[in-house]
Amino acid sequence: MAMCSTIVVVVVLVATATAAEETRCPGTTSSFRRKQAAMEDMPMDADVFAVPPGPNAPQQVHITLGDHAGTAMTVSWVTTEEAGNSTVLYGRAMDKLDMAAEGTHTRYKYYNYTSGFIHHCTLTNLEMCIRDSYYAMGFGHTVRTLWFTTPPRPGPDVPFRLGLIGDLGQTFHSNDTLTHYEATGGDAVLFMGDLSYADKHPLHDNNRWDTWGRFSERSVAYQPWIWVTGNHEVDYAPELGETKPFKPFTHRYPTPHLASDSPEPYWYSVKLASAHIIVLSSYSAFAKYTPQYKWLEAELASVNRSETPWLIMASHSPWYNSNNFHYMEGEPMRVQFEQMAVDVRVDLVFSGHVHAYERSFRVSNIRYNITDGQCTPVRDRRAPVYITIGDGGNIEGPADEMTHPQPAYSAFREDSFGHAVLDIKNRTHAYYAWYRNDDGAKVAADTVWFTNRFHMPNHDDSTPKKRHY
Ligand SMILES: [Fe+2]
Repeated sequence: MAMCSTIVVVVVLVATATAAEETRCPGTTSSFRRKQAAMEDMPMDADVFAVPPGPNAPQQVHITLGDHAGTAMTVSWVTTEEAGNSTVLYGRAMDKLDMAAEGTHTRYKYYNYTSGFIHHCTLTNLEMCIRDSYYAMGFGHTVRTLWFTTPPRPGPDVPFRLGLIGDLGQTFHSNDTLTHYEATGGDAVLFMGDLSYADKHPLHDNNRWDTWGRFSERSVAYQPWIWVTGNHEVDYAPELGETKPFKPFTHRYPTPHLASDSPEPYWYSVKLASAHIIVLSSYSAFAKYTPQYKWLEAELASVNRSETPWLIMASHSPWYNSNNFHYMEGEPMRVQFEQMAVDVRVDLVFSGHVHAYERSFRVSNIRYNITDGQCTPVRDRRAPVYITIGDGGNIEGPADEMTHPQPAYSAFREDSFGHAVLDIKNRTHAYYAWYRNDDGAKVAADTVWFTNRFHMPNHDDSTPKKRHY
């Protein structure tokens, strides 16, 4: 009898504790309603698409990390009249470009479109953390000189501001998002995929890849963007005779995949300051025994949290999504990779694809067993926080059909456009803020302090102390 009483007491205590946990911090569905407006791409003659002046001037300049640890940067640009020169001169002053790198150029055809001359050149042996590193290209015709800050040397307490943008496109809302990100400021961008949405135009009009390249240059020529591939990069169109997936993207946007021993450009890793960032591909095979799966296993085993305590993953399609748009599309990858992510204490998983914003509590759904029916996500301090930020403002419009009621794993969600910044302070703390595009203004609408899963594994950090609605 005494034992039965004890069991009852324990059950009641557990039930009370679970209820208290849920009551203490339920999720929030924001009451903010974005003003509806036409979602059209900016016109071809918009000033943000202007071609740089001068004969054969380099355009669509963009940079991305050129190696695994930040001592190389790959510069890409397009010339349209002739190939010209693929050389980049670079150095620490505009009048002292004392290093040179020789690049290559390529072209591609897509149905009735022929690209310009697309140049790629990797600058190596960069000194780390140098503000105003200058680089110049276009020799023989119109020379353009631009600049960036070289990445800091990786280390556990190196601060870093990582911009987070997804599904940007090229509408007026996209322009707001990019403008707001520029105002927020960051050291690099982790871009969650779906760049130009050229495939939304007749015949996948690849001129829209060119306009997107000119539109985004004002940020991506001056700081590296880390590319995740989305479904709008696939460009698979057998009806046009185009059957090679990712053809425009791979010609235009190189990634440093070889530096992390990845066989494909769609999944790879980089180190930035105190973060180790793993990019996954939702649109490549990831089942067990596939190259991506085997690569991820080896990659996770190689992460040194003493050097880079912040372990971040990104995939285009979200693993946790309570929006009817793209509902459950990310489930196969969650099933394959979630246990691995929990086991190694991944801090954060970022995604796009859904044109809304959502942040989860720290949850996992790894105890699922088909015979016991335990298939509901539960609070789990070992687990990542999942953030969906496919809200760049593209031509397809917002994803405005959330599931109801809000599931218990969802901490905050809003049908809106915006961007975010992860402000890593040191090995234990990072300040995260999501900024809504609010009728032209930038408003911090979801802010959280995250604590590191390696150094503070048991700290409950996924309940925001302060919210703005
Ligand atoms: Fe997408």
